[in-house]
Amino acid sequence: MSYSSNPQANLDPQTNLPTDDATSHQPTTDTIIASNVPHKQAHQPVLHAEKLSKRVRSGERSLTILHDLSLSVAAGESVAILGKSGAGKSTLLGLLAGLDTPSDGELTLFGQPLSQMDEDGRAALRAGRVGFVFQNFQLLPTLSALENVLLPLELSPRAGETQAAAQWLERVGLGERVGHLPKQLSGGEQQRVAIARAFVTDPELVFADEPTGNLDPETGAQIIDLLFTLNREAGTTLILVTHDHALARRCDRCLRLANGQLMAFEPTAVASGGGDE
Ligand SMILES: Nc1ncnc2c1ncn2[C@@H]1O[C@H](COP(=O)(O)OP(=O)(O)OP(=O)(O)O)[C@@H](O)[C@H]1O
Ligand SMILES: [Mg+2]
Repeated sequence: MSYSSNPQANLDPQTNLPTDDATSHQPTTDTIIASNVPHKQAHQPVLHAEKLSKRVRSGERSLTILHDLSLSVAAGESVAILGKSGAGKSTLLGLLAGLDTPSDGELTLFGQPLSQMDEDGRAALRAGRVGFVFQNFQLLPTLSALENVLLPLELSPRAGETQAAAQWLERVGLGERVGHLPKQLSGGEQQRVAIARAFVTDPELVFADEPTGNLDPETGAQIIDLLFTLNREAGTTLILVTHDHALARRCDRCLRLANGQLMAFEPTAVASGGGDE
């Protein structure tokens, strides 16, 4: 299916998915997912994935991690992705952010089809507009907390960036740790540096892979409040991977990844946790 760059054209107003004729649109699993969920804004999605598949080699065999997966996310939405360990959540997040390439399918980010771009082109598209919190943080070990937070600004420099980076470390509760190297920080502190780094450019779209996985409940709650304040006040689109049903319930939409596919999902009402999802 082709995707129009005109925000008004070829979009089904209910599902937010591109269609040449919304009235004759045949419902698929993916459109059912989308139409069951309220969207904040029914205009051009910030992200549209069309039939993404990801296969990798595993020894002699080919392993299919994601299969024909489609998803549309509107500007300002918050989306939780749940699923068992090994279901492919981190693989999916990497694909959706354009950090990794699909085996099949097309990803359109900010109206730009990524298949026509090389790695540098994808990095240029993401610069300053996309933040990513990695599950394993991926801080550079030789740089201080402040220098790690400053890294994304190398691709999108601006005035007052050192102050902005310091303020972000302050916001995540690390104002006293700006000069520490990652090895001098706890796991939860490193995770908060990674969160500050993801937000320092005021991105339109943030991906966070289990952003509270290493935090105690109180610190986790503060970070979650910060994420949703930014979603509400700055309109930042959030795509979160989590096992925490309490966090998932605060999102506009919850999806579960299983067998390489996304399905609508209703998290349980427990305060946190929620089994193996
Ligand atoms: N490059 C690769 N080569 C072989 N197998 C891979 C590769 N990348 C991922 N996998 C496999 O794909 C599956 C999905 O991995 P992924 O890290 O996306 O899972 P996940 O849902 O994020 O899990 P977790 O909740 O434990 O973080 C795993 O079984 C993993 O071993
Ligand atoms: Mg993962």
